[in-house]
Amino acid sequence: MSKGKNSEAVRVVVRCRPFSKKEELSACENILEVDDKLGQITIRNPKAPPDEPMKVFTFDAVYGWTSTQRDVYDEVIRPLVESVLHGFNGTIFAYGQTGTGKTYTMQGVSNDPDKRGVIPNSFQHIFTQISRTQNQKYLVRSSYLEIYQEEIRDLLCKDNNKKLELKESPDFGIYVKTCLLS
Ligand SMILES: Nc1ncnc2c1ncn2[C@@H]1O[C@H](COP(=O)(O)OP(=O)(O)OP(=O)(O)O)[C@@H](O)[C@H]1O
Ligand SMILES: [Mg+2]
Repeated sequence: MSKGKNSEAVRVVVRCRPFSKKEELSACENILEVDDKLGQITIRNPKAPPDEPMKVFTFDAVYGWTSTQRDVYDEVIRPLVESVLHGFNGTIFAYGQTGTGKTYTMQGVSNDPDKRGVIPNSFQHIFTQISRTQNQKYLVRSSYLEIYQEEIRDLLCKDNNKKLELKESPDFGIYVKTCLLS
């Protein structure tokens, strides 16, 4: 990955998960090629006539089915968390249809250190960094909200069945009225 790419304000990174057991057993066909050097995904339409060209999409980085949680953290997330520790704003946003691996990438498997995802790895990164730093004060605040079918719930709130309100303030824009603020 070039330095230039890492300095982009918004980076789009694609991760393709491996076949599930069910997909393997039902002899699903792979229609994707992942080129991590070029950052390209090639999609072949199995129903297309043989002369139809394959569709190629280019992203800031792509990760195939053999990529590990560590690869994704070290190459994509670590630089962003480092910049947050230096006072910049940063957002990591997982997007994709159901079953594509958002929860696996973001959360992972908690009882297997190699399979821990972005959230536990970034917590570890942040608190390790803080514990090694002297003469500097940090404030870490965390919230965990679920937006599902237009409803917002606070997953860290004891009464997390409560639907939360979306508000707008002239001073700090749109916000969710969470347990912390109420
Ligand atoms: N990179 C990966 N390596 C191995 N297994 C994976 C990977 N990504 C996803 N999986 C597995 O694929 C299945 C679906 O993934 P996951 O639950 O993360 O999807 P999701 O995008 O969060 O779906 P939903 O939108 O329904 O919540 C899970 O069983 C998960 O463990
Ligand atoms: Mg999920």
